[in-house]
Amino acid sequence: MQEPYQASPDVYVLPTHLAVPDVGNIPVNAFVLLAEEPVLIDTGLGIDGPEFLAALESVIPLRDLRWIWLTHDDADHTGSLERVMQLAPQARLATHGQGALRMSTWWPLPLDRVHAMALDDRLHVGDRDLVAIRPPVFDNPTTTGIYDRSTGTLFSVDAFGAILPELARDAADIPQQDLTNGMVAWATFDVPWIHLVDEGRFEQVLAAVRALGPSHVLSSHLPPASGSIDGFLEILRSLRDAEPYVAPGHQAFDDLVSQLERPPLG
Ligand SMILES: [Fe+2]
Ligand SMILES: [Fe+2]
Repeated sequence: MQEPYQASPDVYVLPTHLAVPDVGNIPVNAFVLLAEEPVLIDTGLGIDGPEFLAALESVIPLRDLRWIWLTHDDADHTGSLERVMQLAPQARLATHGQGALRMSTWWPLPLDRVHAMALDDRLHVGDRDLVAIRPPVFDNPTTTGIYDRSTGTLFSVDAFGAILPELARDAADIPQQDLTNGMVAWATFDVPWIHLVDEGRFEQVLAAVRALGPSHVLSSHLPPASGSIDGFLEILRSLRDAEPYVAPGHQAFDDLVSQLERPPLG
C-alpha cells in the first residue's frame, strides 16, 4: 500500500495498486469519509490485510467507525471487510441487499448489521445524507455508488478507473494522453457490455451524470479528480468505438504470470 492522504477536507484515500507487467498500474482506493458518523468506503485488497488495517487506523480509530459502505462485492473492494466488521463493532454495513446475501454464502456475514441500500436511497450519517447512485458504467450488478450533495463528491466505484504508467495523488498530475489511454484500457476490460449499449440510452446516462455536476470524482481506480467532469464523460462516450478487450490465451497468460508482482483483480 501507499501512505493514506487527504483528497478533500473530509475525505482520506487509502491507496494501494496492482502492477500489471507491460501494461501499467491499476490504482485501488478505499476512502474514509469524515462525516459526523464516519464512513469507510470499501475495504481494500485481501492481500494487504494488516497493512490496510494500519492505514485505516492512522486516519481514524476503528472503534469510531459508524458505517462501512461497500460499493459492490468484487474482491478488490471486500478485502478486509470481515476483519473491519470484527474490529469496528458499532459500524453497520451499507450495501446492496443481494450483495450482502451473496457474501453471506462465503463467510458468516452478520446480516443483522446490514443496512440494505437501493438506488436513490439516502443514508443519514449525522451531518448529511448520502445518496445511493448507479455510476454510468459498472462491472457488477450490486454496484452502489455514492453522491454526497453537501460537498458535490461523487464516489463513482469502478467508473472512471484507469491503468496508468505512473501512480499519482491527483488525476490532474497525469498527462492527458496517459489518462485517456488508461481510462479506455481499463473500461474496455472492466465494462465489456459497453459495445452492446444503445447510443441514445447511453447518452441519457451520461447526461444524468453531467446534470449531477460533481465537483470531485473519487473513483476506486483513479487518483482523486476535481473540476469539470465533461472530459471524463467524453472518454466514456468514445468507448463504444474503442477496440474490444481480448483476454490473454494460455501462453500469453503464462508469460504475464511469470512477470507478475501479484495478480490483478476486477
Ligand atoms: Fe468491480
Ligand atoms: Fe474494482
